[in-house]
Amino acid sequence: MAVLDIVIFPDPRLRQVSRPVEEIDDRIRELVADMQETMYVNEGAGLAAIQVGAPVRVFIADPVLAGGGREDPTLVYINPKIVRQEGEQDGDEGCLSFPGVFVPVGRPAKVTISATGLDGEVFEQEADGILARAFCHETEHLDGELLIDKVGRLKAQSIKRKLKRAATKG
Ligand code: NI
Repeated sequence: MAVLDIVIFPDPRLRQVSRPVEEIDDRIRELVADMQETMYVNEGAGLAAIQVGAPVRVFIADPVLAGGGREDPTLVYINPKIVRQEGEQDGDEGCLSFPGVFVPVGRPAKVTISATGLDGEVFEQEADGILARAFCHETEHLDGELLIDKVGRLKAQSIKRKLKRAATKG
């Protein structure tokens, strides 16, 4: 396993639309293992493959979001699709590709996701609260949609300035 570099906004790779996974092979299993290590080292709650530069439809989430413990297996979603959603929730959202940025984002209160697991089986999972939020956020990454698209123009400009400053500081 390896800790990978996180792709930071405004890197254009984050705008790519990721492609579906055709086969769950050793490359995908290794990618997921590396993403897991990368997410925990960076204290993230979720991570999409494109955030480590791999444009494939895979994301992972911390089992703590589903009421589990860190020792539980990482939640893995391959070719995910949100199939139902209802209600609304408010809350602040962050993203490992936007270090230090937390912005309020409205999301559905409850969502159902359909995805393939590492075992190749298709499953559905219902979630509310922070896990529902993560499902929405990470699924959007796979279509090149980002946190900054959820805020107004002025807030977006200030986020861009902040991250550019951070990048030039090295
Ligand atoms: Ni993110």
